[in-house]
Amino acid sequence: MPQHQTLRLSPDADGINRCSEILSAGGLIALPTETVYGLGADARNDHAVARIFDAKGRPRFNPLIVHVASADVARRYVEWTDTADRLARAFWPGALTLVLPIRPDAGLSPLVTADLPTLAVRVPAHPVAQALLTAFDGPVAAPSANPSGKISPTTATHVMQGLSGRIEAVLDGGACPVGVESTIVGLSGTPTLLRPGGVATEEIEAVLGQPLARRNDADPLTAPGQMLSHYAPGAKVRLNATDIAPGEMLLGFGPVDCALNLSERGDLVEAAANLFHHLHALDAMGPQGIAVSPIPMHGLGAAINDRLTRAAAPRD
Ligand code: TXA
Ligand code: MG
Repeated sequence: MPQHQTLRLSPDADGINRCSEILSAGGLIALPTETVYGLGADARNDHAVARIFDAKGRPRFNPLIVHVASADVARRYVEWTDTADRLARAFWPGALTLVLPIRPDAGLSPLVTADLPTLAVRVPAHPVAQALLTAFDGPVAAPSANPSGKISPTTATHVMQGLSGRIEAVLDGGACPVGVESTIVGLSGTPTLLRPGGVATEEIEAVLGQPLARRNDADPLTAPGQMLSHYAPGAKVRLNATDIAPGEMLLGFGPVDCALNLSERGDLVEAAANLFHHLHALDAMGPQGIAVSPIPMHGLGAAINDRLTRAAAPRD
């Protein structure tokens, strides 16, 4: 992975503009929100979003929260509902994330949603996050700014300890006032608590006038990306292919003769950025099977193989 000298920037106009430029150029920045620091990238840029997973060392493409400046901007990306409107009016900007059906014209990288039909969106209240989202004027995908499996960061120093050298900059906005991640509420069906967090469940239920359904770990629809056959193309998927059977098309990696190549130069960040696009494109060509070249397991290779294994899993 390329190494970066991570800048620690003050959240003044210069720092905000610098970070906005880094985002526009496809770079990664850490930004303070009222909950925890987020590891942000332009949510429309496949390569930038792939770099988030690489920087975190995430072995899976979990879906990410998209941060926007206002509810009006959020409505460009999700199918808005009356319930969403009530919760947004009560709690935005703030520590509440809403999961809603993604709009077909959203124009976001499929890596942001892990190719799910829903999108998690939030309007953060932190003035530095607000200033950056306004200056950048675009959607920022941001998981917590910590290496995978480590504790979420609530200061710029925590971010530097975990991610220095892996991101271009951190905007130092001091300590996060809330200190735990946002509450996530699913609104694509019955309003459901997907993760307790910075806004108390009771407060949300008071606004809704009804209890939230609880997330059931056994229900695959509420555990994004966790069920075995999560993204299932129409064609049968065969992994670690070094040849092509009749009726198959090859999804290549590295210098191979193939229908579509995840990365000719064997770059795993580029391969991750292309993964969902190429699977959709190959599937649309209607082959009986999709054979996939071996993908190394290091770096983003673990996440790519995880997703491909799910795509190849036997289905009903
Ligand atoms: O406070 C927060 O929410 C922080 C700050 C940076 O905004 N962000 C954060 O992101 O905690 P992350 O990636 O660590 O957690 C995002 C959670 C994951 O558990 C993911 O499964 C869930 O959001 N999520 C994202 N998109 C989803 C979707 N479409 N459906 C269900 N869950 C989703
Ligand atoms: Mg996290």
